[in-house]
Amino acid sequence: MASTVTPGRGILSEDKRAEREELIELLTKGYWMELETVMSYLANSINPDGVRAQEIVESLKQDIQEELGHAQRFGDRIKQLYGVVPGSADFKAQQTYLQPPEQQTDIVHVIKGVIEAENGAIEHYNTIIEFCDGKDLVTQDMVVEILADEEGHKRLFEGFLREFETEGGA
Ligand SMILES: [Fe+2]
Ligand SMILES: [Fe+2]
Repeated sequence: MASTVTPGRGILSEDKRAEREELIELLTKGYWMELETVMSYLANSINPDGVRAQEIVESLKQDIQEELGHAQRFGDRIKQLYGVVPGSADFKAQQTYLQPPEQQTDIVHVIKGVIEAENGAIEHYNTIIEFCDGKDLVTQDMVVEILADEEGHKRLFEGFLREFETEGGA
């Protein structure tokens, strides 16, 4: 009796296998984006020099934990959908714009890199949210919450950029 193995409705049902696999791919991309962001924010919370960098460094230190939490949520959901969270050998770096700047006092480079990373996350998470419409409201709910965090990060760093540009440091 199939009904004891899988529910008859929803994303865990046998009918939805193809959608589930597509969704796992989208979630896996999100998982990697979060982990790369952890690496980039970690380096950029340590490297910068100078008084003006301190606010940014403190903010990034907090974000590292939040982005790691996002990666955990993506991983948990991948497992709930019968996927497997990949190992590190599958990782491919994408964040060219968040590599350490030539001068470690160049904090504007870091701020702009963070905004670009957040923009990338916001775009991808909107894609997942749209994909989930009418298919998987649980994943949709989770990604809506994560999206709200990323929009908050983006807005915070836009404020930092504005201040640096007004001060003529950019
Ligand atoms: Fe995140
Ligand atoms: Fe973020």
